[in-house]
Amino acid sequence: MNGSTFAVGAVAGLKGYANPISIARRLSHERFNNFLVGNGASQFASEQHFTAKNMLTAESKQVWEARVAEVKAKHLSPYAGHDKVSMIALDHQQQMTVGTSTSGLFMKHPGRSGDSPLPGAGYYADSLIGAATATGLGEDLMKRPLSYEIVRLMGTGLSPQAACDQAVYPFIKDLRQRFGKAGELSYIAMNNEGEWGIATNVEFTFAVGDENHPAKAYIAYPNENKTKATYKVIE
Ligand code: GLY
Repeated sequence: MNGSTFAVGAVAGLKGYANPISIARRLSHERFNNFLVGNGASQFASEQHFTAKNMLTAESKQVWEARVAEVKAKHLSPYAGHDKVSMIALDHQQQMTVGTSTSGLFMKHPGRSGDSPLPGAGYYADSLIGAATATGLGEDLMKRPLSYEIVRLMGTGLSPQAACDQAVYPFIKDLRQRFGKAGELSYIAMNNEGEWGIATNVEFTFAVGDENHPAKAYIAYPNENKTKATYKVIE
């Protein structure tokens, strides 16, 4: 999402292409059809001359088989495990961009989409204010569009950290009370001055850097009641 123009591009259920975010970015330049799924997304990628690639490498097949065996041996939920990369960028003209990418929930049903391609839930950017993006269990992240809400709160004058705290922890409480449980939820936010904040209900790693400060990795932990998180630099 381009925070200066609000242009959004997204794909879901795309198979057979590396770096789907490049395809999403190309879609963000279109006036219509900005969010494509499944075969339609692959067709667009092919029309735009993105190179098709078999993403099932021998290594990833081995990882998948080992994980399937672990889930069985340890009686884990097949759905315990997902990954997502989310990034916020700010340039010298105070223009902001946000992007996300994921292979989704482990062992997901064919056709499942999480929050990653959903503006408002998975990400949101407004260059006049700031940007926010999520990672965690998409099924819960899409129950309230907090990436948008965090940006909206920053727009009322809150710092990124205050906006994250104000948006995320009451939602976690609501989820527990009304849905009975809350999955893993983590958010990062940055305003157009480069100040940042995070909120999470699990151990969560993130990194921050700029042209004068090489990216530093941090690890965050929620407190016992999952009402706040603390973080420290990973040495
Ligand atoms: N947050 C990524 C997913 O649930 O697919």
